Formats: sequence, structure tokens, C-alpha cells
Amino acid sequence: MQVEGYRPLIVAFCCNWCSYAGADLAGNNRLSYPADVKIIRVPCSCRVNPMFILRAFQRGADGVILCGCHPGDCHYTTGNFYTRRRMALLFSMLDYLGIERERTRVEWVSAAEGAKFAATMNDFARKVAELGENKRLEDLRCKQ
Ligand code: FES
Repeated sequence: MQVEGYRPLIVAFCCNWCSYAGADLAGNNRLSYPADVKIIRVPCSCRVNPMFILRAFQRGADGVILCGCHPGDCHYTTGNFYTRRRMALLFSMLDYLGIERERTRVEWVSAAEGAKFAATMNDFARKVAELGENKRLEDLRCKQ
């Protein structure tokens, strides 16, 4: 359910070598994306354990996006292949937990794709806003 004036909290895990540089390029080119997107820089997309994503939902994230280098371009050669497989498993688990599939996404964004980074974040934030707040995994111990 969408609330008037509601802005979703989005966590974006970005690999250091491509996606984070893509976010940097978006900033340098003054391309805007929602300020509610909180970027967490990781060495490689495969550093993101699926538990990090579930934990982000517990801590109040409404959407979690994982960005990495394009397949075949990973700085660590095969890291994003592992990511791709892991995330496929996580997506089926999210269905089981009753969390809308659209609240998570994997995107490959290279260092030269600042425009793609901004467009992806805008699109993702809009879709998560349509879904409304995520209450399914909320951990009440994390409430202030
Ligand atoms: Fe970017 Fe591995 S270094 S996905």
C-alpha cells in the first residue's frame, strides 16, 4: 500500500570496480537519482552474501539492488557468475518468504555506464515506491 509522500529506502550494493565507478560517473555527469538510494561499496558483487539482503530488509530497507560488472568483466574473473547463481536461489526463496520479487534486482553496470546507473536507480525506486513499505521481514528490535 502506497502512502502519500512516501519515499522508499533503497540499499544498493555496488562492486568497487564497475558499478561504484558507474555511480561516480553518474554524479560527475550530474545525472540525478533518488537520494534515498544508499550505496554500499563492496569489492565484488560476489562479496554480497544473500543474508546481507535479507538483513537489509530486516533493518527497514524497502528495496535492495545488487550491481556488479557485466558477466565476463568481473575484476576477479568469475565473481559475478557466482553472484548470478546465488541471486537466482535467493529470488526463489523470497517468493517462499512472501516478499515481492520486484523488491530485489541484480543489474550489471560498467564504469562507463553512468547514465544506465542513474536510469536503473530511478526505475527501481519508482517500482519499489509503487509496492509501498516492506513490512514482511521487519525486525522490531531494529526500530528506534
Ligand atoms: Fe565487479 Fe566482480 S569486481 S562484479
